[in-house]
Amino acid sequence: MKVLMINGSPREKGCTFTALSEIADALNRQDIETEIIHIGAKPVRGCLGCGSCNKTGRCIMEDDVNAIMERLPEFDGFIFGSPVHFAALSGALTSFMDRLFYAGRHLLVLKPAAGIVSCRRGGATAAFDQINKYFTISNMPVVSSQYWNMVHGNSPEEVKQDLEGLQIMRTLGNNMAWLLKSIEAGKAAGVRPPEPEPPARTNFIR
Ligand SMILES: Cc1cc2nc3c(=O)[nH]c(=O)nc-3n(C[C@H](O)[C@H](O)[C@H](O)COP(=O)(O)O)c2cc1C
Repeated sequence: MKVLMINGSPREKGCTFTALSEIADALNRQDIETEIIHIGAKPVRGCLGCGSCNKTGRCIMEDDVNAIMERLPEFDGFIFGSPVHFAALSGALTSFMDRLFYAGRHLLVLKPAAGIVSCRRGGATAAFDQINKYFTISNMPVVSSQYWNMVHGNSPEEVKQDLEGLQIMRTLGNNMAWLLKSIEAGKAAGVRPPEPEPPARTNFIR
């Protein structure tokens, strides 16, 4: 089993990476493979709302979003990580997740996910709320920890001093490993995924 981890920080080996690595170590100890992909330093265009992905299954802008979307079936679980920028996710991760989830949400259904955030001081809960919205609109089981998934620090060295934050990351990794193994055991025992109903879309003007 394999978990994809997306680093949405402009800093490849910064605080977000430090937190993701702690989760990866916990997952690896439970024999779950991990891969960290860094998307935060390149320009990531925001969604154009053109609807082209509804027809083709691909984003009209050919960049990392399509490349990673093609690989989603390889992975059993997902962790998205971001630094807190003005009490929100980084611009790059916001654009990335908007487009990945708009075009590729069907590839993520019923796969466990978690978001983690890193900040110097404040805004982590707002960013954490934001990241969880992607999973809870996509039929993804959200993996939690002993506290909200956040670390504090301005540098990897500071994050390593946030012992509670690192413990939260390890617990998250252990919880995700347990859920992935439980899902696999359920499949082997013949537990079938729920049948979705035909979608009912009710707008508030009709
Ligand atoms: C543009 C920008 C905005 C930021 N806004 C916040 C903020 O709202 N609250 C906060 O505590 N830290 C803020 N920070 C600090 C980062 O969130 C913090 O240093 C984070 O741990 C960096 O993670 P990274 O090394 O993975 O990029 C901001 C940093 C930048 C560059």
